[in-house]
Amino acid sequence: MKRPHVLASAAVSVDGFLDDASPRRLVLSGPADLDRVDAERAGVDAILVGAGTVRADDPRLLVRDADRRAERVAKGLGPSPLRVVLSSRALDPAARVLTVGRDLADTLVLGGAPEEVLGELAGHGVLRLMVEGGAAVHREFLAAGLVDELQLAVAPRLVGDGPRFTGAPATAHLVETRPVGPDVLLRYRFGDADARWLAEACSLAERCPPSRSAFSVGCVVVAADGTVLATGHSRRDDVLDHAEEVALRDLDRDDPRLPGATMYTSLEPCGQRASRPVTCTQHILDARIGRVVMAWREPPLFVGTPSGAARLEAAGVEVVECPDYAELARRPNQHR
Ligand SMILES: NC(=O)c1ccc[n+]([C@@H]2O[C@H](COP(=O)([O-])OP(=O)(O)OC[C@H]3O[C@@H](n4cnc5c(N)ncnc54)[C@H](OP(=O)(O)O)[C@@H]3O)[C@@H](O)[C@H]2O)c1
Ligand SMILES: [Zn+2]
Repeated sequence: MKRPHVLASAAVSVDGFLDDASPRRLVLSGPADLDRVDAERAGVDAILVGAGTVRADDPRLLVRDADRRAERVAKGLGPSPLRVVLSSRALDPAARVLTVGRDLADTLVLGGAPEEVLGELAGHGVLRLMVEGGAAVHREFLAAGLVDELQLAVAPRLVGDGPRFTGAPATAHLVETRPVGPDVLLRYRFGDADARWLAEACSLAERCPPSRSAFSVGCVVVAADGTVLATGHSRRDDVLDHAEEVALRDLDRDDPRLPGATMYTSLEPCGQRASRPVTCTQHILDARIGRVVMAWREPPLFVGTPSGAARLEAAGVEVVECPDYAELARRPNQHR
């Protein structure tokens, strides 16, 4: 990846506002959604806002939950992601993003076109970036086509006037809707189908319970018409679970959509396995999945045996490797 994976996150009113017109800070999300956002923050390398948000809301931009901070430290990360403020002018030196929690996260103040900012952040090792606003920054990143995933939490209120959530003409593809307390989370992705679903598989890999010895992998099975048939991640139901096998476990093996379906997986399906008798490659063949798209080839575990991808291809499955996503797929495995 030449630039970080960008997750744009915003809370909006039913009438599409990010804030009201008063100088007071308006918190649109309920406690459950604020906690969901905190979990998303814990899963990225940097959080970015514009100077307008710092001036209006004076956020700290820290992971609030101490357990989530401890989990990050256990993974070898800082307690809270790098904080990034976009600004062309001096910030108030008393701003909380500069003064509070300096033991938990550093703060960078950057300027320049969004592409340049992303290039600079990639240079700092940022693989996953969360863009939290405000209105101008969301518009700028969306207009530049630099948003991979958009999470909109719609709060059950009408605001009437204030800064609006806007972008530029583009088609977003819905990947999830979820009630979160009184709010509704809408998750969208951009880009072509392979890019969207492979990125989604890489995001699912971030949900795996930690393990020192096993890979963290995410997997999505999508029908030819774009319907998500199943998702999975490593250790989802049991400590020995592989992502592909849990996704396939949820499927009806007689589903006529399977031969036309694509499995997106962050790691090459295993072709040899010590933990259970049936490999993921065999599960895929048994399910008659027609196509497999993967981000990262499995480092060889048993020398001299054909890889999972080679076995799938030999059996007539179309296998596509997208090395642009390999770094993103490796991210949850860096400290294995
Ligand atoms: N509901 C939500 O989820 C949510 C989240 C965040 C914010 N908000 C709301 O959004 C509002 C703030 O939005 P906003 O549009 O006024 O401000 P903003 O988008 O937070 O920040 C805009 C400012 O960021 C700087 N900036 C942006 N792009 C830049 C670039 N490429 N290079 C250098 N500097 C750049 C500029 O600051 P300089 O003036 O320094 O040049 C610009 O004026 C507030 O009302 C806040 O409450 C809502
Ligand atoms: Zn496997």
